[in-house]
Amino acid sequence: MTITDYDRDRGLVTIVVQEVGVTTRYLGALDEGDEILDIVGPLGEAPQFEPGGHVIGVGGGYGAAALLCLMRERKQQGDRTTIIVGARQKDLLILVDELREVCDNLELCTDDGSTGFKGLVTERLQQLIDGDQSERPDYVLAIGPMPMMRAVADTTRTTGIATQASLDPLMIDGTGMCGGCRVTIGGEVKFACVDGPFFDAHQVDFDEAVQRSKMYVKEEALAACRRSEGGMS
Ligand code: FES
Repeated sequence: MTITDYDRDRGLVTIVVQEVGVTTRYLGALDEGDEILDIVGPLGEAPQFEPGGHVIGVGGGYGAAALLCLMRERKQQGDRTTIIVGARQKDLLILVDELREVCDNLELCTDDGSTGFKGLVTERLQQLIDGDQSERPDYVLAIGPMPMMRAVADTTRTTGIATQASLDPLMIDGTGMCGGCRVTIGGEVKFACVDGPFFDAHQVDFDEAVQRSKMYVKEEALAACRRSEGGMS
C-alpha cells in the first residue's frame, strides 16, 4: 500500500492498496464511511535533488501510485519530468491518466507489448539514457518491487546519473526506535522511517534488504490462516 495523493485543503490522503496479506485484506474489506484507528505521518524525508533538471521516475506495480504526487511536486519545482511505469500487461497498469497529467512525458511498458514499449522499465530507461543526449536524465527515482529498484540501480550505476531508491522495509513504530526498518547504505546502518525512504540506490545493500523483507513470511502465512479460519472480515 502506498500514499498516492493528498489534498491539504480538504484534509485528505489517498492510499492505493493491493490485497496481498492480512492487513491489506482488512483494509479491502472496509466500506465507504468506515474508519481506521490512526494514520501516522508524514514520516521520513523527501528526495533531495537540485530543482531544474530532468527527473525520470521509474515505477513498478504499486510504485506507480507513489510517483503521482512526487512527480507532480518535482514538476511544480521546475523539473522536466518523465515517468516510466511497467506491468505484465496493459490492464495491470494503474493510474495511467492521472500520471499523464502530472508529468511532461509518460512512458508505458508492458511485458507482452499490449501497450507502449514491449519490455522492462529498465530497458526503456536504458534507451532514454542512450538516446537524445539533450533528454538524458539528471536524476532517476525508483519506486517499486526490490528487484526492479535493484535493476534500475544497475542500469545507472556507471552512468554518473544520481539515482535514489524508495525503500519500504517492514516498519513497526515508524519513529526510529524499534530498528525494524534497518537498511544498510554504503556500509552504514540507516532507518528507512526517519532517514529514508529515499536512499542512494547505488549504495543500497539490496541482498540484505531482500533478506530482511522476508523475515516474517511464516508469521504472515499463519496470520492469513487464522484470519480465514476465524472468518474475520
Ligand atoms: S520502523 Fe522502527 S525504527 Fe523505523
